[in-house]
Amino acid sequence: MSTPQLIDPYQRIVSYLRISVTDRCDFRCYYCMSEDMTFLPKKELLTLEELDRMCSTFVDMGVTKLRITGGEPLVRKGIMTFFQSMSRHLKSGALKELTLTTNGSQLTRFAQPLYECGVRRINISIDTLNPKKFGEITRRGDFHKVMAGIDAADKAGLKIKINAVALKGTNDDELHDMVEWCGKRGFDLTWIEVMPMGDMGEADRLDQYWPLSDIRKQLNEHWTVEDIPLNTGGPATYVRVKETGGRVGFITPLTHNFCESCNRVRLTCTGQLFLCLGQEDAADLRAAMRDHEGNDALKAEINAAIARKPKGHDFDYSRQVIGGEMTRHMNHTGG
Ligand code: GTP
Ligand code: 5AD
Ligand code: SF4
Repeated sequence: MSTPQLIDPYQRIVSYLRISVTDRCDFRCYYCMSEDMTFLPKKELLTLEELDRMCSTFVDMGVTKLRITGGEPLVRKGIMTFFQSMSRHLKSGALKELTLTTNGSQLTRFAQPLYECGVRRINISIDTLNPKKFGEITRRGDFHKVMAGIDAADKAGLKIKINAVALKGTNDDELHDMVEWCGKRGFDLTWIEVMPMGDMGEADRLDQYWPLSDIRKQLNEHWTVEDIPLNTGGPATYVRVKETGGRVGFITPLTHNFCESCNRVRLTCTGQLFLCLGQEDAADLRAAMRDHEGNDALKAEINAAIARKPKGHDFDYSRQVIGGEMTRHMNHTGG
């Protein structure tokens, strides 16, 4: 029997599912959330058993990479039970990668158990190496706790990628420090262009936008940089910095649209399937799952959703106004 595949109308194979297991987070990064967020009532969330059933159905249909996100995925109660349960798909060979994107705050507790569940590579978001600035960006994050989390992950044997959102006036003076620190520690580093998600004022969004073309230029001026063909299955393109030996990636939804090679869809913690980070269309998989005992209705709903996956997002700042803005916050779809 041939391996099943999910294929969209543009002949893209959808093999990567991002699952937001909670909209809650212990931080309030200013580009991601407002100070006073209202979170979903807990009863709205898919249970851990339902999350398992959803993910296992996707794996059954050809998904080979699962990335657990949030909010902060590690603040979801009982989340390790879910990781343990998902590890059976790694063991069977159906799943190639089980991973997560985290703010690092809970890693001193969870790094080792994650490794034991078969997680080998994790992405940790940290936008600055300055503890005071870190407090300002995250509004309530503890820099030293995150650093201890990063150490624990490293010690547990997890390969680490640092995600930094490029923020003009905030971390644009730290480009070389971040490259050096990551190089020394053996971490990959990815810069992400800030996307118009959530209801932040237009002036603020445009003010903080630091195009990655500028980062590339600055890197070239300071370091010896070579393009490399690395593809981790995500949207980043990478260079290698000769002096540190480290890799630096760029996620450029604004300056370079990578949608033509999109391989992913996003499941929210309430069971909505978003077909693109930058479009409103979503399928309600929760109803399809809850109303039927077997998974046939769920599979039919997934197939119908994939058949309408849009070509791409419409994010655009080029005319000095924000184009393609999404009203939902990033913690809803998990980045
Ligand atoms: P790797 O597996 O390491 O390649 O990870 P990844 O880049 O797929 O995952 P990560 O969670 O680190 O993603 C970093 C950020 O990239 C996300 O939070 C988003 O901001 C952005 N991103 C990922 N996928 C997409 C996408 O399909 N469209 C857009 N516009 N941005 C994306
Ligand atoms: N634009 C770009 N990246 C964002 N993230 C959160 N909000 C935004 C935004 N508006 C990032 C986080 C984390 C990842 C999951 O998404 O910093 O690295
Ligand atoms: Fe939390 Fe990540 Fe959003 Fe920051 S960017 S508030 S760590 S979900």
